[in-house]
This record gives sequence, structure tokens and C-alpha cells, in this order.
Amino acid sequence: MPKITYIENNGTEHQVDLPMGATIMEGAIQNDVKGIIAECGGSCMCATCHIYIDEQFLDLLPEMEEEENEMLEAANAPRQNNSRLGCQVRVSKAMDGIIVRVPEKQ
Ligand code: FES
Repeated sequence: MPKITYIENNGTEHQVDLPMGATIMEGAIQNDVKGIIAECGGSCMCATCHIYIDEQFLDLLPEMEEEENEMLEAANAPRQNNSRLGCQVRVSKAMDGIIVRVPEKQ
């Protein structure tokens, strides 16, 4: 199972093994990572699962769909070039070891 490291905004780290196909948002909720809210439950309608992916891993992620791109504009924390919505990123084997940071607000 791919290992994902979540880093909360206060620096608390969680190393989590996620089953293939789970989303980064689901992994955060199930493992009590603070700061990921996921109000809409993963429907790409709230932007409260906003995350920053450590730059060196960006190429491992699936392309962003237009829906996610538009919803990220509504995120409360500043959008960066490494911003993604956690509910729209499914974990693959290639993503083993990635680091995800939680923004200061959702
Ligand atoms: S959980 Fe609502 S957009 Fe991801």
C-alpha cells in the first residue's frame, strides 16, 4: 500500500498506508489528520479538502480536471501551483512516499 505523509499546519506528521484507489482526502479523514474538512464528502463542491503536494511529487499525480481547477479558485487558503483537492487525487503505486501539507485554513 502506498505510504502518504500528511503534515498538518502546526507541523504534526501522520504517516499513513492507503489502499490503492483511496483518495488523499479519505486517508486524511480516516486517520484524523486535522485541517481537512471535506464538507461535501468528496463531490468536488466545497474546496475544504485543499492540500499542498510537495513539489518533487507533482509529476506523479494525475492531471487535474477542469472541475477541480475551478473549485480550487474558491479555496480559503492561497492557491499555489502545488494546490490540489484531496478528494480528486486517488492514490496509485507510483505515489508511494509522497508528502502532503495541510493549509492554514479551509
Ligand atoms: S471534499 Fe469537497 S471538494 Fe473535496
